[in-house]
Amino acid sequence: MIAIGTILVSTGSYVPEYRLTNSMLTNMVDTSEEWIIQRTGIRERRVAVDQTTTELAIVAAKRALEDTDLIPQELDLIVACTATPDSYTPSVACRVQTALQAQQAFAFDLSAACSGFVYATDVVDSYFRAGKARTALVICAETLSRIIDYTDRTTCCLFGDGAGAAVYQWSDRKDGILQTVMGADGSRADALLAKALPVEDPLHPDRAASSAERFLKMNGKEVFRFAARTVPEAIDHVLEGSGITLDQIDWIIPHQANLRIIDVICRRYGLRKEQVYVNLERYGNTSSASIPLCLDEMRRKGLLQTGQHIIFVGFGGGLTYGAVLMCI
Ligand code: UT7
Repeated sequence: MIAIGTILVSTGSYVPEYRLTNSMLTNMVDTSEEWIIQRTGIRERRVAVDQTTTELAIVAAKRALEDTDLIPQELDLIVACTATPDSYTPSVACRVQTALQAQQAFAFDLSAACSGFVYATDVVDSYFRAGKARTALVICAETLSRIIDYTDRTTCCLFGDGAGAAVYQWSDRKDGILQTVMGADGSRADALLAKALPVEDPLHPDRAASSAERFLKMNGKEVFRFAARTVPEAIDHVLEGSGITLDQIDWIIPHQANLRIIDVICRRYGLRKEQVYVNLERYGNTSSASIPLCLDEMRRKGLLQTGQHIIFVGFGGGLTYGAVLMCI
């Protein structure tokens, strides 16, 4: 049988148990539950108190594989996305490969912040089309709490920890991934910045950074404006490129950053709330993990059915953005 399309075989996810609620945040910074709900839609987020990014990634990866007929040794590509890796080297992907005993897979990390899952999906699809892989695991895992300054009210209410994973296969179905688009604007890099600097470096004292510099800093308004422009552009692009019309789309799954950004998408396309999946009220912004966390919840609730058309769309640090249109 000739393989011609990249299909989504399975998903998995994991969130740490500890819940940081809006009410708890009001005891930590000068904020209010009303402000957080009205400006973001977030009610609580999870924090990995004693777990690493890699540990979150491994659980999500195992859960994704458990729901398939595949054994780990059948994976030939593992891509991990994270803005919060545990080490400069090895990659999270190599750690996951070892934990799964997926020795046949080549493995690497991809850095595209909140657009990570979209970028990784496109990379997997491209490897499949080039004939270099046929079965791939994408894992997105974040422990953003490690780079959040919990005295900074402009960021600490927004972000949470979690992991999501997806298994893709090169298949004889001619649908699967129908269209992708990715973009970046590095000139806006400072709008969302988390530096990787040594706190103390006796050899290079000029490069030493205070721990404060290692915290995530964000110009929220600039990222908001970027998202409001690029998300509709990306959706338009994948619709036009695939010849699929908006009324054929069953679900739009946006990166879960702010309910007001999702409202912009709904208004722009005249979408009903039920066509757009949202879970940010429970997890906040989990960066690259947000879209696969949604996909996994949707699949387990039975909301994803074979033959449906979905679009997932991401944006964030870089600044980056991208969208994928697929028939599941
Ligand atoms: O994953 C991709 C990365 N991130 C994003 O997508 C984030 C995109 N941006 C956003 O979601 C929004 O811009 C934010 C939620 C970050 C901020 O909402 P905003 O409506 O743009 O608020 P703002 O930054 O304009 O701040 C309005 C006011 C300010 O006070 P003044 O200057 O008007 O007196 C802020 O100091 O709200 C204040 N403020 C807060 N007040 C209470 C900012 N954060 C808080 C807070 N609690 N947590």
